[in-house]
Amino acid sequence: MIITVLAKKGGVGKSTVCILLHEALKRAGKTVAIQDWDAQGTSNKALEYIKGQRAEQSGQYDILIYDTPPNLEHPATAAAVRSADVALVVTSPSPADVWEADEAVRFVQSKGSQAVVRVLFNKVRKGTILGRLVAESAKQISVPVVPIQLSARECYQHAIGRGWPALDATAREEVIHLALALMSVRN
Ligand SMILES: Nc1ncnc2c1ncn2[C@@H]1O[C@H](COP(=O)(O)OP(=O)(O)OP(=O)(O)O)[C@@H](O)[C@H]1O
Ligand SMILES: [Mg+2]
Repeated sequence: MIITVLAKKGGVGKSTVCILLHEALKRAGKTVAIQDWDAQGTSNKALEYIKGQRAEQSGQYDILIYDTPPNLEHPATAAAVRSADVALVVTSPSPADVWEADEAVRFVQSKGSQAVVRVLFNKVRKGTILGRLVAESAKQISVPVVPIQLSARECYQHAIGRGWPALDATAREEVIHLALALMSVRN
């Protein structure tokens, strides 16, 4: 299974989501690797920091996660989308990001991809106005949103360099639920 993580916007949390999924899926007993298509190499660097792992280019895995550049025009993004089983568009709850999320959804659809497309709300602050408006914002998006949202948590920032040990029990549960939700998406 290939999960391609993408967004039109930079900085919405694509690479963080890749690392969190990588860590959660490993804990769920899956073999998993990340292929980093972004020249910034955030996921590659994160894997090296976490435990000297290198992002895998080949091999057999239950799940392969593709991290992509913050640019829909980049050929790598299109290639990563075309080979995806699940295309996961990441957005923050802020309205400007949500608009771009729907553009990313349409981008996937325009590439003739067979992928199931889902949108993930990341950096959600549940007690805030934007946090409460997530369900309303989801209506602007033409595909279903993942039923699990990722909260804005400092421990997710640490997870980029430290992996699973950086997460407390609440964060672990949230990320495991996200991973399981993605494993079971169907058109
Ligand atoms: N759920 C979260 N809670 C708190 N901080 C987060 C969360 N997700 C991402 N961040 C932070 O947001 C910033 C951008 O995250 P990240 O690098 O993963 O985004 P990106 O979409 O991959 O960026 P780029 O477009 O540059 O590739 C980082 O500082 C990261 O730690
Ligand atoms: Mg990135």
